Amino acid sequence: MAEGSGSVVRVGFGETQRRDAWWSEVLPVIIFLGGFGVYATLRAFEGAYYEWGPYLSPFYSPLIDATHRYWPFSPALLILAGPLGFRVTCYYYRKAYYRAFFFDPPSCAVGERSHRKYCGETSFPFILQNIHRYFMYLALVFLGFLWYDTIRAFRFDGHFGIGVGTLVLLANIVLLTLYFLSCHSLRHLVGGKLDCFSCTGFNRKRHGMWKGASSLNERHMLFAWLSLFSVGFADFYIRMVAAGVIRDIRIL
Ligand code: FES
Repeated sequence: MAEGSGSVVRVGFGETQRRDAWWSEVLPVIIFLGGFGVYATLRAFEGAYYEWGPYLSPFYSPLIDATHRYWPFSPALLILAGPLGFRVTCYYYRKAYYRAFFFDPPSCAVGERSHRKYCGETSFPFILQNIHRYFMYLALVFLGFLWYDTIRAFRFDGHFGIGVGTLVLLANIVLLTLYFLSCHSLRHLVGGKLDCFSCTGFNRKRHGMWKGASSLNERHMLFAWLSLFSVGFADFYIRMVAAGVIRDIRIL
């Protein structure tokens, strides 16, 4: 639907006056986000090859009931909802998958599917996207576990060491931390919701934190993608090493 000269013009699905390759933004989302979704689902259900030496796959962290005493299925399924919920409700990913998978709309100024009733995120089920801020608190707990796993990856048989896997996990946790710190909800929490910084306690500190969060927030899309690739690659690397397909090289 487009508006011009005071009148509303209805356009069909995919119709547009844009001359650029608008679909080139959508296609990578379908391929990479869709591909990650398939890979992560298969790995979460696999329930094997998630640990090797001091390395633990981020898909399985924190590792709960690895002995299957109380839970007969893959331990990844016990913790999946936390990181998945944080990504699915992320403001950036919402835009990306609404366009790429729901075509709602496929892109700016491109005709969308006809709607009998359009409610956006004001009614069920999409109103549930508002719980993103709570997933953000949960993500902080997961980050703590992942930092612990990364520090543990520097210990080989009780001694300090560095393997390629250590660096893979380190790169992953740094990118995940940047993704978290650039979150829109976090920026809102530290200062975005304030109308007046000088009227609040710790005003300088809060203003500084808000400025830092704002500058990271400008690159949120970049961190969203980089951390998605890094978390998938970290799991893939550990799976390959644990399955004996490749050998982890010790650097130190
Ligand atoms: S908005 Fe993307 S993680 Fe919070």
